[in-house]
Amino acid sequence: MKAFIFDLDGVIVDTAKYHYLAWKNLAKSLGFVFTEEHNELLKGVSRVRSLEILLEIGKVQLTEEQKQPLLLKKNEEYLEYVNKMTPNEILPGISDVLDYLDANNITYALGSASKNAPLILKKVGLLNRFTAIVDGNDVSKAKPDPEVFLIGAQKLQMKPENCIVVEDAIAGIEAANAANMVSIGIGDAELLKDATYILKDTTDFTIDFLKNLMN
Ligand code: BG6
Ligand code: MG
Repeated sequence: MKAFIFDLDGVIVDTAKYHYLAWKNLAKSLGFVFTEEHNELLKGVSRVRSLEILLEIGKVQLTEEQKQPLLLKKNEEYLEYVNKMTPNEILPGISDVLDYLDANNITYALGSASKNAPLILKKVGLLNRFTAIVDGNDVSKAKPDPEVFLIGAQKLQMKPENCIVVEDAIAGIEAANAANMVSIGIGDAELLKDATYILKDTTDFTIDFLKNLMN
């Protein structure tokens, strides 16, 4: 018996573009330019750590107290985009994968760093599909720490070695490896080289691939 644990951002939906717009605006208000290349560094990284990285890029030093309103402002703008999301934004192939898992009684959980995960799932109509949801509100240690996936395995009542993690971020693949789980990396093969399997995007996450994997 196997079970799946899915990352959210970059695997089920492409929210990186919305994170980028909100971070870029924040950087602009602080007087520096934040590029799409910079945004790559924030994939899979927690909100607080993302702000720290952004401030390092802009060489801006702030106290913890000064960071709080910025985190709020960024999230408010991000949520404006999230609130407009629809089921059309589920990445290609993912709905078929979930249908296949349901049809074959293979359970799956969400393992995301995002504190907005339940809202995003609701917006795209997937909130009730997951047996368990573990998100940024449930963990004390962010990826690459394996905590989020280990809690997911526990909630699915599965041994870590029987869990298959689907991830697009390096930190997520590291977390899966640290949890002793099989991993499917979705994205750049060079970046995700430590994953057990690598697919260039979700269109390669086919039912044939799944069948081979399960056998
Ligand atoms: C991850 C994203 O899934 O969630 C990161 O890849 C993001 O880019 C992190 O920073 C935290 O998200 P949120 O929604 O709690 O700000
Ligand atoms: Mg991700």
